[in-house]
Amino acid sequence: MAEEKNTKLQPYGKKVPAIKDSTKKLPDMLSDMVCRKLIRAACEYRNKAYVPYSGFRVGAALLTAQNEIVGGCNIENAAYTPTNCAERTAFFKAVSEGKKEFLAIAVVGGKGDVLKDYCAPCGVCRQVMAEFCDPKSFLVILARSEDDYMIYTLEELLPFGFSGKNLQ
Ligand code: THU
Repeated sequence: MAEEKNTKLQPYGKKVPAIKDSTKKLPDMLSDMVCRKLIRAACEYRNKAYVPYSGFRVGAALLTAQNEIVGGCNIENAAYTPTNCAERTAFFKAVSEGKKEFLAIAVVGGKGDVLKDYCAPCGVCRQVMAEFCDPKSFLVILARSEDDYMIYTLEELLPFGFSGKNLQ
């Protein structure tokens, strides 16, 4: 059982006992304090979600290389496909403000007030992340609360991805 927890894809985070044996190291820039701050911001943005159709509220907090936090929420639409996810809202807000270097993003999502599950970014959002971020170092924090989160690299969430590098 203990060995099972040490598999390659085992996320690291406060609630993951395998962290000590993991080959991954929490980067200095992403201290527990920074993670908590990002999660708090993501929760605040989750309150702004416009979700009349799904009721599924998502909030994201994107950390820029300049140490700023840019938040976003999901914004739904009666025609469904124009719906924008919280992660992309945060990215598009940041890029439109001239910010194009990012270190990490925290994501929280779910129905109702209590976050029961982690909310992983959809495929389209992962692709948008790949446009601007280094897959090996960009970190995605999936949280249920400030005390309960997991961290993945973008590469883990989008292995063998397609990016501008493929077009060079
Ligand atoms: N959603 C996000 O905002 N981010 C995700 O990572 C997954 C899905 C939104 C889109 C839609 O408004 C609702 O959640 C249900 O899919």
